[in-house]
Amino acid sequence: MPSFPTLSGLPGLAALRAMVRERSILAGLAAMHKYLGDAFQITLPGFKPVVFVGPESNRHILVNGREDFRWRTESDPVVKLLRHGLLVEDGEDHACMRAVMEPTLQRSAVNGHIDAFWACTASISDGWADGETVDMLVEMRKVALLILTETVFAVDFRPEMERLWRPVIRSVEYIAPGPWLLWPDIPRPGYKKDLAVLDEYLYRIIRERRAAYAQTGKLGDDLLSVLVGHQENGEGLDDDLIRDQLLTMIVAGHDTSTALLAWALYMLGSHPEALAAAQTEARAVLSDEAPTPEQLKELTFLDTVLKETLRLYPPLPVGNRRAAQETEVRGYPIPQDNRVMFPIYLTHRDPDLWDDPESFCPARFDRSQGASTPPAFAYIPFGGGPRNCIGATFAQVEAKAVLGRILHDYDLQLLPGAVHSHMGTTLEPRPGVKMRVRRTTKNEPQRHEDTKKSS
Ligand code: HEM
Repeated sequence: MPSFPTLSGLPGLAALRAMVRERSILAGLAAMHKYLGDAFQITLPGFKPVVFVGPESNRHILVNGREDFRWRTESDPVVKLLRHGLLVEDGEDHACMRAVMEPTLQRSAVNGHIDAFWACTASISDGWADGETVDMLVEMRKVALLILTETVFAVDFRPEMERLWRPVIRSVEYIAPGPWLLWPDIPRPGYKKDLAVLDEYLYRIIRERRAAYAQTGKLGDDLLSVLVGHQENGEGLDDDLIRDQLLTMIVAGHDTSTALLAWALYMLGSHPEALAAAQTEARAVLSDEAPTPEQLKELTFLDTVLKETLRLYPPLPVGNRRAAQETEVRGYPIPQDNRVMFPIYLTHRDPDLWDDPESFCPARFDRSQGASTPPAFAYIPFGGGPRNCIGATFAQVEAKAVLGRILHDYDLQLLPGAVHSHMGTTLEPRPGVKMRVRRTTKNEPQRHEDTKKSS
């Protein structure tokens, strides 16, 4: 059996330099990929993950050999935070919870949320003064949070936005890659209070939904209601387990969409022809009314922009698993419990799979212009197999509605300034996406002071 190549000497130094120069762990991984190929091992004290790049290993880890891998690692902050949330469960517990949650995020349910996607976008963008410069990384987080809570929990988050802004951000920061990867038990001071505030909110909305159900005997078809109403063998889900799913949705369902929306606006802002084409399309297809699912489907250019943005900046750039038992991938032996990484970001930029991979080129996804379909598992922004993203349809329809509305209502100008990709919990454009916004439609903008203050 082959043994994993590892970095040392000059290439090791080059990888380190790339990481420091580009302020990105991904740059280091990219350099290792370049020097070592599609399978390699990182050898730091206490951190020795094996790394696989490419469709063959993606398919193996996500589908064919998935039983050999698990998600849950008790020492990881994501497990400490989400406890028994869908994202971090394995085996039967995962399959059962997924079956309960999945119907609430299917296409028919998502299509029913388009009005909310449209209205939540306006309730943030109406706060932009004409000609004002806004940071789209912040604004898109507000939009994504409002949308997630209004549709998946069926609550009005507006009155809570300012109070819970910091707790939400801190919950996301708590699970971002950091020194805990090398020292799992490293103290994490400074989170307790914020996480408790978020928990208090989640337990409160669960209690309120139970009380409303007890009073009316009625529940909606949003996820919170479905979890509150779920019965198995005569028993319901307890508050702790429901809290775990709600927090999972907040973390997995808004931070990713924030990153996609902010990067897509950055890509459009830095490619004026693409921005003009997307605006022309949005203004031809959409009106002041919330769009129908068919109208969103007609936004074919915007669709290719989103796909290309997800290729270049997959919000979850690196997939992670643990070997559940001794196993092998592409002939390489992996000891039980070893961390296994599959950087989606590197597969998406592999020159063996993509022409001119570093360029922003929406046309590569334009099937009407003869673009070819990428090989299976070469393009996996939403993962793959039985634990692919449960919110994939939601996220794509949401992104089209939100960006469609902004492109329809505003002229946008990206302000100059360096932007780099920061690998926190998701891959974010830092320090932000500053855009000047000019209203082109006649609706008078109204200022929403409560949501403006959050930035
Ligand atoms: C652009 C937006 C999004 C991207 C790129 C994205 C990406 C992903 C990826 C790659 C995975 C698989 C992780 C793995 O295999 O380790 C995943 C899982 C998940 N996503 Fe998303 N996601 C997005 C939006 C959403 C939304 C909007 C929701 C909820 C409404 C959501 C909820 C989840 C959950 C709960 C899981 C765990 C599924 C499971 O383990 O069965 N995501 N996501």
